[in-house]
Amino acid sequence: MEELLRCEKIQKLFVVKDFLLGIKKRKIRALNNISLVVNKGINLGIVGESGSGKTTLAKVLLLLVKPDTGLIFYKRTNITRLPDSQLRAFRNCVRIIFQNPYKSLNPRMTVERTLKEALSSDKSIKKDIEKLITQTGLPVDYKHKYPHQMSGGERQRIAIARALAGNPECIIADEPTGNLDATTEIQILKLLEDLKKNLGITFILISHNLKIVSSFCDRIVVMYRGNIVEEGSTQEILKIPLHPYTRLLWNPLLVENIDDSNHIDDRGCPFVNRCPERKNLCFHTSPELKEKEKGHHVSCFLYY
Ligand SMILES: Nc1ncnc2c1ncn2[C@@H]1O[C@H](COP(=O)(O)OP(=O)(O)OP(=O)(O)O)[C@@H](O)[C@H]1O
Ligand code: SF4
Ligand SMILES: [Mg+2]
Repeated sequence: MEELLRCEKIQKLFVVKDFLLGIKKRKIRALNNISLVVNKGINLGIVGESGSGKTTLAKVLLLLVKPDTGLIFYKRTNITRLPDSQLRAFRNCVRIIFQNPYKSLNPRMTVERTLKEALSSDKSIKKDIEKLITQTGLPVDYKHKYPHQMSGGERQRIAIARALAGNPECIIADEPTGNLDATTEIQILKLLEDLKKNLGITFILISHNLKIVSSFCDRIVVMYRGNIVEEGSTQEILKIPLHPYTRLLWNPLLVENIDDSNHIDDRGCPFVNRCPERKNLCFHTSPELKEKEKGHHVSCFLYY
């Protein structure tokens, strides 16, 4: 199996001013000891509720956000400390569709200019731009449009077209159907499915919706408060979800609305406040991610 991307033991802290606490600084652990591998042709889903660190992980994988510690490898080469000037080829091969296409598309640029900038400037020709637009199912005259002249689904198609520029091997799609209605969501997922099959692109699909991720991906990583709590093949995670949080994700009605943000507290399991199966040990000891079955990892004391 050809390894495309790997990250090892990634940590990322953000320091934010907390005005409620009188401008006291608060640390948020967005990513805690994250390791994962993306192999060519094996589509990976990253699932977790809001604030679990999915977007931060996507940005760290692309080195758009530098990790505090840990390593990123592209095709087994350590690229963690490369300067931005040497990351250009890598960023053509691994592209991202950002979470909110309205924010990520420049409102002052036509589609044509957006795509021209995304293509390598020396060969940005009309034919390439038109091909990118039609590949996403839009008519070529959309090249004259500005973001505000398009619907949410159409803007997302242009964001996908931009990601396709440079013939990527891998695309990270961060909540690609986030603000779309149910019908448009199905159409966008169908488009991504076609690109996956026809162009052989490996996807990393990020979503808070386990159903979307499981219908699209071969493997799934479940995140909670900056931690990977379960990782395995989609089949295994559907058949035998191990972590109590994964089981809860299958039943969104049971997900309590508790403020359980990524504040720093290294003691105990990150899920302990909400876990229906917690034991005393869970309050003061952190479970490690361990292999329960071949290729199926879980971080929970119920299994060791
Ligand atoms: N630039 C930043 N500065 C400070 N804190 C940040 C920054 N980016 C993310 N965070 C914090 O890090 C945590 C993880 O955020 P992230 O955006 O990665 O979550 P997410 O899983 O993508 O959430 P969502 O589903 O809402 O998109 C959150 O607590 C967030 O507030
Ligand atoms: S380690 Fe304990 S608190 Fe954490 S998920 Fe498992 S049982 Fe629940
Ligand atoms: Mg996000």
